[in-house]
Formats: sequence, C-alpha cells, structure tokens
Amino acid sequence: AIIPVILSGGSGTRLWPMSTPARPKQFLPLVTDRTMFAETIARTQGQPGFAAPLVVCGPGHVEHALADLTAAGIAQARIIVEPAARNTAPAIALAAHAAGAGDTPILVMPSDHVMTDPAAFLAAIEAALPAVRAGALATFGIEPAGPETGYGYIQRGEPSAAALGTFAVARFVEKPPLDAAQAMLAAGGHYWNAGIFLMRADAYLAALAASAPAMAQACAAAMAGSAATGSTIHPDSAAFLASPSDSIDYAVMEKTPNVVVAPVDPGWSDVGSWTALHALAQHDAHGNAAQGNVLTIDTNGSLIRATAGVRIATLGVDNLIVIANAGPAGTDVLVIPMDRAQDIKRIVDQLGDA
Ligand code: GDD
Ligand code: MG
Repeated sequence: AIIPVILSGGSGTRLWPMSTPARPKQFLPLVTDRTMFAETIARTQGQPGFAAPLVVCGPGHVEHALADLTAAGIAQARIIVEPAARNTAPAIALAAHAAGAGDTPILVMPSDHVMTDPAAFLAAIEAALPAVRAGALATFGIEPAGPETGYGYIQRGEPSAAALGTFAVARFVEKPPLDAAQAMLAAGGHYWNAGIFLMRADAYLAALAASAPAMAQACAAAMAGSAATGSTIHPDSAAFLASPSDSIDYAVMEKTPNVVVAPVDPGWSDVGSWTALHALAQHDAHGNAAQGNVLTIDTNGSLIRATAGVRIATLGVDNLIVIANAGPAGTDVLVIPMDRAQDIKRIVDQLGDA
C-alpha cells in the first residue's frame, strides 16, 4: 500500500498573528472547521490502497499532530520527530527509511494546502502509479494562474510510456525570478508544482544519494541510530544535525532525470497568505470575508477575523486585512492593506514572534 507522508515542519509566518511558532498554520482551522493537517490526513484515510500515515514534524508539534490523528481515529500512524528543521529533502529521507527504504510508494504531502476536489487528486495518483512502480519520481502539475514566483515550475515533455495521462518532465525550475516565470507562462506547456510527490522510497533515496550524497548519508545514519517510543520515532540527533538543509525541489527535483508529471485540477490552493485566504473564503455582498464577532459598515473587499472574546468593528475602509488573535499572553492585532500581505514577515521579524 502507498504510505502517506505528511510534512508538517513549516512555520507559516505570513499568517501571523493566527499562525505562531507554537501553533503554525497547519494546526489551525483556517479554511474549514478542521485544521489543515486534519484535512490532509482525511484525503487518503480509508481510501483503498493507502496505509496509515507517517508524519514528520518538530518536537513542539507532536501533541498537535497526535490530537488530530486521534480525533480522526487513526491509531497506526507513526510520527518522526525531527531534532531540528533541515527543510524537506532530509525530512522526506527520514520518512523513506521509516517506510522500509524498499519499493513501497510514499505519497509526500504538505500539511498546509487546500483541495476542494480530493477525488481528482486520487485519480491523478492512480494515473501516476505505474510510472512510479517502474522507478520514476512523480510530481503533480497545477495549471498556472499567473507568474507566481513562490512556486516550482514543471515543463512538460513527451507523454510517459509507463503511465497514461502523465508526461516526462523536461525541466523542473524551483521559484524562478519573475521574468523567467513570465517566459514559462508565455511559452505554455508549464505547470506549477503542487509540492506533492509520489515515489518509491528506494527511488527517492537513490536520487538523493546521487544529487546530495552528504544529506543522504546523514539521514541514513540518523535513522540507523533512531529510537522508537510508542508511535514516535526519534532519529539520532547528532547524525541528523550534520545534514545540510535543502528542499526536495532544489536538492532532487531540479537535478534528477527520471521525473514525471501528472496534470491535476483538484481545486488546489497553497494557503500561503491572508490574501490567498480572502480569495478562498465566503464573501458577503461587499466582498468582505468575516469570521468571529465582526461588524462591518461601509467596508469593502476586506478580510476580518476575530478569535473568541474579541469584537471587531470597521467603518469606511476598503481592502483591509484585520486579524485579532486572543492568546494567553494578550491579544495580537494585525491591520494591513490587502496588497501588502506579503510583507508581514517584516512585522514578525521585528516582533521576534517567529
Ligand atoms: N517536517 C518538515 N521539516 N516539514 C517541513 C520542513 C522541515 O524542515 N520544511 C518545510 N516543511 C513542510 C511545510 O510545513 C510544508 O507543509 C511543506 O513542507 C513544503 O514546505 P514549504 O516551505 O511550504 O515549501 P514552499 O511552499 O516554499 O514550496 C514548495 O511548495 C510549493 C507549492 O506550495 C515547493 O515544492 C514548490 O515547488 C511548490 O510549488
Ligand atoms: Mg508552502
């Protein structure tokens, strides 16, 4: 069976003040009434051909992951606890070892994406599986909506002989500069990388050993020296700390030859910013998306959210993001124009909250 691998080490700083280091965005009910982590595990849970998930996260987030897994009734999940964050390429290597390092396929999924049509996603997985069983690393391609520079780009090559409906990857470009992204959109035949990967555990480890040998060695040593307690797996700390830090996109996908892409339209969104969340949310007649105890008068195009115990009222403003988050240490309030949402990192840097 395919083992879902849930990556849950990100910090989601652009969704401050809701997303914090102690509870980053994947553990918040930002889009539905379940956390995005819970939505992610639900996508494959109980589907034929899928085993219980393997979660990879930091020590501070094990409790959040366990709470969601327990609520979902998943008892057999295992959690790999990273001694430190080394980005996604090492995190996936740990999971590939925990999956047995053999020909079992792993489905690597970020824990912080929205999908409104999971059935389309499952169909794309099934389409890619024959190529994966034959040793390819499969990516999932989203029709690009604009020259976003925060995504990976996948250039489609010839149709794959191994799997109907999938294509060889001619080129993988992670986070291109704007002019390069524009050129790829104009050329056509390019997808956004959904950040989801399907591959045999051994095929990933072989590709990593070829393109990033120091990383592959450090992760192998970390898992050889790992200790398991209950459902958690603790890699050897010193060995893992010796690993270089890099993403699967740069360390493997840009460099390895045998990659295929399965085009898919699962209603995918990387909920990377308050602007993205505003676009996804239900709007009133004035284009406002409000949550919590919120009063809007003569207000348009705004995202306004208050947690329990806070009331927000706005009048005579347009295109604002107003977020109030009541926590044990006080209430944090963000007020920022919609078109500046990408700059929140400056606030977080100065406040030292992340
Ligand atoms: N366990 C663990 N450890 N998880 C991690 C770590 C880590 O050190 N670093 C990141 N993650 C998790 C994040 O929580 C997220 O769920 C996922 O891995 C992807 O990491 P991001 O940091 O969010 O990557 P990105 O958004 O910049 O880029 C990736 O996703 C894009 C689509 O959203 C790339 O794959 C791009 O090519 C892709 O377009
Ligand atoms: Mg991301």
